[in-house]
Amino acid sequence: MKLSIIGGGAWGATLGQLLVDNGHDVIIYDINEQFVQTINEKHIHPFFDLPLPQTLFATKSLSEALAFSDYLVLAVPTKVMRGLLNTINNSITTPKFFINVSKGIEPDTSKRVSEIVEEVIRPEYMAGFAVLTGPSHAEEVIRRKLTLLTVASKKESLAKTLQTVFSNDTYMRVYTSDDLIGCEVGGAVKNAIAVVSGMATGLDMGENARAALITRGIVEIVRVVEAYGGKRETAFGLTGVGDLIVTASSENSRNFKAGKQIGAGKTMAQIYAEERQTIEGVRAIEALHQLALKKGLSLPIIEVAYHVIFEEMPLTEAITKLLTRTLKSEKID
Ligand SMILES: NC(=O)c1ccc[n+]([C@@H]2O[C@H](COP(=O)([O-])OP(=O)(O)OC[C@H]3O[C@@H](n4cnc5c(N)ncnc54)[C@H](O)[C@@H]3O)[C@@H](O)[C@H]2O)c1
Repeated sequence: MKLSIIGGGAWGATLGQLLVDNGHDVIIYDINEQFVQTINEKHIHPFFDLPLPQTLFATKSLSEALAFSDYLVLAVPTKVMRGLLNTINNSITTPKFFINVSKGIEPDTSKRVSEIVEEVIRPEYMAGFAVLTGPSHAEEVIRRKLTLLTVASKKESLAKTLQTVFSNDTYMRVYTSDDLIGCEVGGAVKNAIAVVSGMATGLDMGENARAALITRGIVEIVRVVEAYGGKRETAFGLTGVGDLIVTASSENSRNFKAGKQIGAGKTMAQIYAEERQTIEGVRAIEALHQLALKKGLSLPIIEVAYHVIFEEMPLTEAITKLLTRTLKSEKID
């Protein structure tokens, strides 16, 4: 099959290698000229100093990527997603399948990527939508380490096709799901919890506290998944708890690392100045704070992170706020 990857950063370029490994023809589109050159001329991953297949091509031309295939793998940060989709909508001339691999919720609108795609792309050019997500550090997939993902779509046939396209017998096994909402939301919320877990680590609160935050973070994932209309069981699968486990205590996670730096006293401005890659969790915290207000959801851990990051509340004060909430029973609802 032919596929076009939109966004050739850490994850997009890594998926490019996976798809070439699986025998597909792939083009990567990226606005960063240096990345495009690195892929085409040096055949090196733009973020990890590791070789990429010689047959993996990149382009700076969106129209070339759109003409190349009918399958668009969306691998850009969610903050540029709406603008990019508008450009795509104005440029496409044939129906496309959209496969989102980015993890986030749009602040202000509280929309998921599938909702943004549906809103922006003219219906006659929308062949289908799927999300491919789960516990996956690009750093490991690029080294062909064993990874399990889930592909979800309202169209069962599309999910099954993509399951075969992305799976292989050596390092990638993909499950299907019919719970598009649950899969999309789990990936976004776990990033927010990973930031908080990082904060606790940076503040040297200890492993007991981190385990507690992660566990109660699962409760918040469930609440958000259900608030959007997703299934509770999805929150406990690869795309929710699975992704949280891989993210919430790993130095490979930018969300965990950003939280750790906040815990150690750095400001977001300092962190952004040093980190050239996407930190989706911080944006998710803003979106989830707004969602909690709109829907009357109880998300105390995410609220703490919001106060610290967006309202400059001292972290110790925010933790005290969390600990002095009314004592209650350990249940999800
Ligand atoms: N890194 C991972 O391990 C990983 C794993 C799974 C999912 N994700 C998700 O994938 C998404 C992308 O993450 P990443 O780690 O690859 O980020 P990244 O910052 O490494 O890469 C993003 C890429 O998008 C490109 N880009 C930005 N704006 C663009 C535009 N308008 N048009 C074309 N290209 C544009 C950038 O130049 C960059 O190369 C995020 O939502 C992230 O949560 C990442």
